[in-house]
Amino acid sequence: MIFDTHAHYDDMQFSDDRKELLHSMADNGVGNIVNVSASYDSCKRVVDMVQDYPFMYAAVGVHPDNVGDLDEEAFARMEELFTRDKVVAVGEIGLDYYWDQESHDLQKEWFIRQLKLARQLRLPVLIHSREAACDTMEIMKEYAQGLKGVIHCYSYSKEMAKEYVKLGFYIGVGGVVTFKNARKLKETVEALPLTSIVLETDCPYLAPTPYRGKRNNSIYIQYVAAEIAKLKGITYDEVIAQTEANAKELYGIL
Ligand code: NI
Repeated sequence: MIFDTHAHYDDMQFSDDRKELLHSMADNGVGNIVNVSASYDSCKRVVDMVQDYPFMYAAVGVHPDNVGDLDEEAFARMEELFTRDKVVAVGEIGLDYYWDQESHDLQKEWFIRQLKLARQLRLPVLIHSREAACDTMEIMKEYAQGLKGVIHCYSYSKEMAKEYVKLGFYIGVGGVVTFKNARKLKETVEALPLTSIVLETDCPYLAPTPYRGKRNNSIYIQYVAAEIAKLKGITYDEVIAQTEANAKELYGIL
């Protein structure tokens, strides 16, 4: 079944129909979902939410756009959430020089701090990196050796993707791969073995064609899997089965 390794179901865009939508997942071929926090406030929300859905797990971490909300006290409260059930990863964490909401120094400081936390907790990390290829790679090489995780919503070159695979990381592929102009990502998918790819929505964002621009959800991952199958000349079922096995290995879900 489809494994959505990265979703944001605490988002307000799901307020009206969250429950119905999530209860329809199994009938639409979706097996598991990891609900990922981004803002500091969302950390507790995503952990609370996954307790109500047996097929959902949580990732706790603060996105680079929001690290201004962190201080020692907030960080300690966030750390406590890892004692709750079904928290399987640290994320999403990283660097975002596109939106540039916080200074690069502050982003780097909290990125490194959260990588260290993942090591201490022996959990995988979900990495967000936008227009910060060099700094991200530098920090990953120094602080993420031996860790597992996903380079989420991958947007860099196929050469760099191979470097991340060598470091032991999966490449997260979502709706963008279905866009006509996504030549770089299509090439990356062609160049990587399927054993290094995981599927993700990043919903409510980044809906695949034919829903581009609309609200995304995990059911639409079928369009992402179909595009990957086409690019690699394999069957849809092979894509679903291997990426599900990859995700389960990553998160330690049996
Ligand atoms: Ni995300």
